[in-house]
Amino acid sequence: MRKLFLFLLLPLAAQAGPPPSPGQVLYLKNCARCHGKNGRLGLSGAHDLTKSNLNTMGRTYMVTKGLGKMPSFEKQLTPEQIQAVVAYSLTLR
Ligand code: HEC
Repeated sequence: MRKLFLFLLLPLAAQAGPPPSPGQVLYLKNCARCHGKNGRLGLSGAHDLTKSNLNTMGRTYMVTKGLGKMPSFEKQLTPEQIQAVVAYSLTLR
């Protein structure tokens, strides 16, 4: 009986809180120090990502190559990681 009870609880525990997406984890690690958790920090001239008109292609280029004070992430992130972090940046509103 006790075992059955634990078994029933497990799936509930696993669902507690939505797990952060890989893109979000990458964003918090690589981008938040300038752009802020919500994309609006604007440190050292970083643009407000919630107001950016750049689409996926433009953002991918930006993150890959960098521009001015925006660093290039070509060496730190794989193309898949860049894709994930860009997709996450597009969800910031
Ligand atoms: C060292 C600070 C810094 C970090 C870290 C940083 N950025 Fe930026 N970012 C900037 C600056 C500064 C600009 C403005 C560049 C310019 O236009 O001269 C910018 C611009 C951008 C833009 C273009 C916005 C627009 O519409 O003009 C995007 C998209 C962007 N960053 C995404 C990211 C993502 C995603 C990451 C993480 C992978 C990241 N940035 C990390 C400083 C940073």
